[in-house]
Amino acid sequence: MRDLVAETSLDVRQLVAPLFVREGISEPQPIVSLPGVVQHTRASVREEVRALADLGVRSVILFGVPAIKDGIGSQAFDPEGIVQHTLRDLTADLGDSVVLMADLCVDEYTDHGHCGVLDGPAGDPNTSVDNDATLEVYARIAVAQADAGAQVVAPSGMMDGQVGAIRAALDGAGHQNVAILAYSAKYASGLYGPFRDAVDCAIVGGGNRKAYQQDWRNAREAIAEVQADIAQGADMVMVKPALPYLDIIAAVKAAVNVPVAAYHVSGEYAMLKAASANGWIDHDAVALESLTAIRRAGADIILTYLARWFAELRA
Ligand code: PBG
Repeated sequence: MRDLVAETSLDVRQLVAPLFVREGISEPQPIVSLPGVVQHTRASVREEVRALADLGVRSVILFGVPAIKDGIGSQAFDPEGIVQHTLRDLTADLGDSVVLMADLCVDEYTDHGHCGVLDGPAGDPNTSVDNDATLEVYARIAVAQADAGAQVVAPSGMMDGQVGAIRAALDGAGHQNVAILAYSAKYASGLYGPFRDAVDCAIVGGGNRKAYQQDWRNAREAIAEVQADIAQGADMVMVKPALPYLDIIAAVKAAVNVPVAAYHVSGEYAMLKAASANGWIDHDAVALESLTAIRRAGADIILTYLARWFAELRA
């Protein structure tokens, strides 16, 4: 009877698996702060996506770890870049039976670690991220990812105007059918720590992203960010992180009519793994409770490193 009346459901079709693919390695590399998650090789990511699809997880989002980083992150839009290669591999393997999403940002690709192009020397206190110069780079990345087979591009850099710039670039290149999942309400969270290990990213000079990511003291600006992105052409919007931001997910869900995604981020996953490894909490119970709570708050889609675990549990 409890199942009969339960208000919330969690299904593999709602999950997106984040995957890291690193250029120039011959074996998958474990990520110490993300137990069970690896940096994939070009070959191992193909096996992983096939296994996920067989388990019913039919959406993935790719993050690249390039061998060479530079000031503007040019490997992010190089047709020979690791994500572009992987998109072509996966399209050849699976056609459109899996939704291929590509994270669209440059922090994994820049030698200074910021999500955009700088207007001065890295590490100098007077240097800022140049918003509009960054939009030109994002437009090039979007077209390169779409050319390589991305069905969804997911801009995560929080630059103003990024969705509009990307939509115009995609349309101009004949990619009208490529969708945009906007990381709209992305907070300047301490919970991204393990992710930065996963993509070998650190900000030169010890800076932070508070000039472009949201202040976690604020809720209303999340609605403004989401509405701006939808006006610019976002097909889906995201709130990130997830568990400390269930109020934001609920408010966004009430305010918009497009699908709402939530990203259960690296630090949320790492806390679950660390506490359960110590026997302090029950992994499976807390994992299920967490993902279900994110759905209850209003997320239609959840990006989570638990996707494969959940699919295997249900299999
Ligand atoms: C930026 C990006 C980040 C994450 C996803 N996209 C890191 C950041 O903004 O610092 C974090 C994801 C996670 O922590 O799991 N390209």
